[in-house]
Amino acid sequence: NKKAFIFDLDGVIVDTAKYHYLAWQKIANELNIDFTLEHNELLKGVSRVRSLDIILELGKVEASQEDKDKWLFQKNEDYLSYLVDMNESEILQGVFPVLKFLKEKGQPIALGSASKNARPILEKTGILSYFDAIVDGNDVTNAKPDPEVFLIAAKLLNINPEDAIVFEDSVAGVQAANIGKMTSIGIGSATVLHEAKYIFNNFTEIDTNFIEDLIKE
Ligand code: BG6
Ligand code: MG
Repeated sequence: NKKAFIFDLDGVIVDTAKYHYLAWQKIANELNIDFTLEHNELLKGVSRVRSLDIILELGKVEASQEDKDKWLFQKNEDYLSYLVDMNESEILQGVFPVLKFLKEKGQPIALGSASKNARPILEKTGILSYFDAIVDGNDVTNAKPDPEVFLIAAKLLNINPEDAIVFEDSVAGVQAANIGKMTSIGIGSATVLHEAKYIFNNFTEIDTNFIEDLIKE
């Protein structure tokens, strides 16, 4: 039985969610907007452009397109500065064994990320070759919770959405998987990700029996 195993990137495979947060916080500080970790949950899985809009809405700030473009550029430059020395040590614990196991089982694997920086991150961490398909922020027009990114990924893998399994750390991403009729697996807080079919704190809690069962289902 073949399933499509679709992984989100930021906060699932690598701990880049913290870098996104730090970079957005700088912009928010500059604009005197209060931006907390709780607010940050709203940004997870959401595109760069939409993230800025959410921050500006939080601060009730209206801005010209020119200013927005400047902040979007600044945010990304700052974010990229955190990635310069990135290597395989930034792969979150437990992820690598799951990827390896899926490969051994001949299961199709895809990336389904909102990020436009996905490829260089997969390259730097040395896991690019694990992915049979990569769908990222450069390929989609509709952001999560729209299921577009995952639907394209399943299609590229030649698997029906009902047979796709999505690993996600964001509320928007879990919703996207659910809307796409896929099996959602939340990675993170059960309180935040309660809409997911299964929830784990991190990949170290996912054992091979669980994966075997998903394949059989
Ligand atoms: C998502 C992150 O994966 O990608 C968001 O969860 C981020 O925080 C989005 O804003 C877009 O990423 P990037 O790298 O294109 O700015
Ligand atoms: Mg994520």
